[in-house]
Amino acid sequence: MALGSVRASLINARAYGANPVAFYRELSGSGDGYRAVAPFDLFGRNVLISDPDLVAEVLASPSGQRFGKTGLRFFTVIRRMLGSGLFGLDGDQHQRRRRVLYPVLQGEALRPAADAMSRAAERLCQEWAVPPSRTVDVAEAAARTSLELLAEALVGPPLATTAAQLGHLFAHAEPMLLRMLKAPVVFPDWLPTPGNRRLGHATAALRNRAADLLRLDEPAPDTMLGRLLARESDPTRILDELVTLVVAGHQSTAAAITFTLYLLAKHPSEARRIAEEATATLNGRAATIDDLPALPPHSHGGGGGDANLPPVWIITRRTIGVERLGGHTLRPRTTVHICPHTLHRNPKHWPEPDRFRPERFDGTSHRHRFAYAPFGGGPHKCVGNDFALMATAIVIATVLPAIHLHPPTQDVLVSARSFTVPDGGLLLRLGPAPG
Ligand code: HEM
Repeated sequence: MALGSVRASLINARAYGANPVAFYRELSGSGDGYRAVAPFDLFGRNVLISDPDLVAEVLASPSGQRFGKTGLRFFTVIRRMLGSGLFGLDGDQHQRRRRVLYPVLQGEALRPAADAMSRAAERLCQEWAVPPSRTVDVAEAAARTSLELLAEALVGPPLATTAAQLGHLFAHAEPMLLRMLKAPVVFPDWLPTPGNRRLGHATAALRNRAADLLRLDEPAPDTMLGRLLARESDPTRILDELVTLVVAGHQSTAAAITFTLYLLAKHPSEARRIAEEATATLNGRAATIDDLPALPPHSHGGGGGDANLPPVWIITRRTIGVERLGGHTLRPRTTVHICPHTLHRNPKHWPEPDRFRPERFDGTSHRHRFAYAPFGGGPHKCVGNDFALMATAIVIATVLPAIHLHPPTQDVLVSARSFTVPDGGLLLRLGPAPG
């Protein structure tokens, strides 16, 4: 590597390690200086793309053919935890496993999951109703609620407490995982370095608990795990997908709920409008799957607390051969970064990108299919998309009529962990709902 490139890599690594979302935003710039394709050094060839046509080209091309996951540090490290769970795969193996997992999270299969969402939303509502005026950490409550609803949807109420432990065990392992992702070098997992050992123990604790769960009573056939068991017989694959669903589904949904509540707290008239429309449909009860068509279309914040606070901050692929993207020639093994936070600020597709404009999600706005990609797209598009939108809409529509959210005293700073979180939590003052 040339000296200039090493120097640039060292500077970039420091900025990336401190705050990757801020790094990407700085790199892409804004307004007239916005760069939809931005190559950069990070101990190898890298490019950030924020142009919907190019994003479509990368994400929608057949899995693992031109742009793959193999060899990328993120997927190498995450596979230590998820094994051969869907999230870390590409190519034919991915296609086969996706056919198994996809139906578990679609259509009528989501009906019992929606019941779990309504019960969790109801519990959150009761918790926030008494005492009616106080300050709460909304990020913490959203994380708890998301874990409850996901655990119940996965295995049903009798086993939900055990399933929820998987979320806690992942939260424990997460800092070790993130440290490894940002380290200058990743050692092979068989080398007993302190980092490998720590992550190894934390991963073993998570996977052993998942194995314990699978040894308990069989979950009801209409739960997500029950449906998976009906479609898959290999015990290791079942365990891998169970861990994948918790890791991919918990904090992502929590972030969508958190940032949607944050933006609604910042925009009281919009919050009032959603509360009034929800009240007209629900009249004080929790929202259900059957209410969804009648609920305000943007009550789920478009899956990402409006466009500019999406839960996922990075999607990566690696070029397999030479590629031409946006006038740039990319050599093989170039890492292509797609950051929804910069993509959703592309001024060509998002006028006033930083303004909260919920009408963007009322179904009347026409935009490039890949200008808004909080759930990715193409063959790897999130399989939990509908689950997450439904959970967010049910929680927001249930909670909002029952409480008043005081505007936040300061803007949140986004911190990039496995998913985005508000740095230091999200403290909001709650009050009683206006009579
Ligand atoms: C608002 C919440 C969520 C967001 C923003 C989100 C976002 C994403 C994105 C961007 C991807 C594509 C990654 C890539 O192309 O490399 C993805 C994939 C995936 N997500 Fe989600 N997700 C959310 C919720 C969920 C939930 C609730 C589940 C499951 C319970 C889930 C399970 C998965 C799985 C298994 C994949 C891998 C799909 C594949 O490669 O075929 N996600 N998600």
